Amino acid sequence: MVGVIRFYRPKNIKLVKALNQYVWDSYGRKYLDTHNGNGAGFLGHHNKYVVKSIRDQLEKIYVASIMFDTDILEEAITSLGSILPKYVSHVYFLNSGSEAVELGLKVARFLTKRSKILYFTGSFHGRTLGALSVTWNRKYRYGIDGLDLRTIHLPYNNAEYIEKIDHRDLAGVIVELIQGEGGLNVASSEFISAIEELRDRTGSILIIDEIQTGFGRTGYRWLHEKYNITPDVLLVGKSIGGGFPVSIVALNNGLDKELPAGFHGSTFGGNPIALAAIKGSIKAFIKDNVVDRARSMGTVLNRRLYDDLVEKGIVKRVKGMGLMLGIEVGRRVEEVIDCLQRSGVLALRSGETIVRFLPPYMISSEDIDHLVASVERCVSRPA
Ligand SMILES: Cc1ncc(COP(=O)(O)O)c(C=O)c1O
Repeated sequence: MVGVIRFYRPKNIKLVKALNQYVWDSYGRKYLDTHNGNGAGFLGHHNKYVVKSIRDQLEKIYVASIMFDTDILEEAITSLGSILPKYVSHVYFLNSGSEAVELGLKVARFLTKRSKILYFTGSFHGRTLGALSVTWNRKYRYGIDGLDLRTIHLPYNNAEYIEKIDHRDLAGVIVELIQGEGGLNVASSEFISAIEELRDRTGSILIIDEIQTGFGRTGYRWLHEKYNITPDVLLVGKSIGGGFPVSIVALNNGLDKELPAGFHGSTFGGNPIALAAIKGSIKAFIKDNVVDRARSMGTVLNRRLYDDLVEKGIVKRVKGMGLMLGIEVGRRVEEVIDCLQRSGVLALRSGETIVRFLPPYMISSEDIDHLVASVERCVSRPA
C-alpha cells in the first residue's frame, strides 16, 4: 500500500463533486467552498468557459513544448494582453506559484549582477528552496535552516526602515500587497511607495507577488494598480488557471531582452491544456465581470462579518480586501475551521490567529448568511 505523505492535517472528508461555489462529499453533504483549492478556484468549480476551452484543446493537441508555435499559445498570449497592465511586454509560463517566485528571484539576480534579496516579516512566497528563503515564518523551513540565498528582511508595513537602508548590493525586493498566508495584513501606500523609491535609488528589481491577490480576487484586477506602482516583475498564479495549475512571470517592457536563451525552462510550463485554462479563465473574467462582482460581494461579506461578528464582540476584527477576507478569532483557529467544516463551510487559516475565506466570485447573499451564522456558532461554542 502506498500513501500520500501527510504534510497537511487531513480534512477527513472525501470530495466527490463540485459546482460553482460548492463542493459535495461522499455522504452527499454540501459545502460552501471558501477553501477553494487554496484560493485557485476563484472562478468557481466547473466554470463553463474554462471547461470548454480545456475540452476543445484536448481534441487538438495537449503535449507540446512552448518552443513550438501553437494556436493556443497565440490565443493565450492575446488574451493575456487584454488583461495584463500595459507596462508588461513579455510573459513566461510555469506551473506553480513557487516556480514563478524562483524565476523572479533569478531575474533579479541576473539583471543586477547582485545577490541580496529584501523580503518582509510575515511574507509567504512558497516552499521551494529559493521561495522559502524569502518566506518569513521559520515554521516552513523547519529542519532545513541555512538556506543559501543572500537575503535580508525588514518589518512589513514600515516605510521608515526602508527609507533608512542603503543597500547598494541589493538585487531585488519581493513583496505581497496583502499577506495571504501571513495574517492578511494589507500593505499601506507609504510602505509600497518607499519600496518603489528604494528600487529607483538602488537600481534593484521590484518583484510584486500577486499570486494570491491577483486576477480580481481583491476587487481589483491587479491590486498593485490601486497602489499606482510599476513592478519590474509581476508574479501571477492560483486563480488565473481557473483551478488548473499554472503560473505566469510577467516582465516590464524591455527586460526580456537582457535575458539570454537557455536562462530558464520548464517541461510543463505553457502546456497546451494549461494555456487553454488561461484562455478560458480570461474569457470568464471578462464575460462575467468578475472584478466588479468580487468587489461588490467582498463589500457585502466584509460588512456582514463586521456588523454581525465584530460589533457584537464575537470576533476581534476583519482583515483583508475584496474576496480575500479573514477574521481574527480569540481561540484556536483549527478548532473553528473544523467546526465550520461540520457546519458546511470550508475555510483556511492565515497566520496564527486568522480564519481566512477565499470564496469564488459568485458567492451569494444566502451563502454569506450561512457563513456568518456558522462562524457565530463556531466561535461562540464552549471550547
Ligand atoms: C503570495 C504567494 N506566493 C507564492 C505562493 C506559492 O504558490 P504555490 O503553492 O502555487 O507554489 C503562494 C501560495 O499560497 C502565495 O500565496
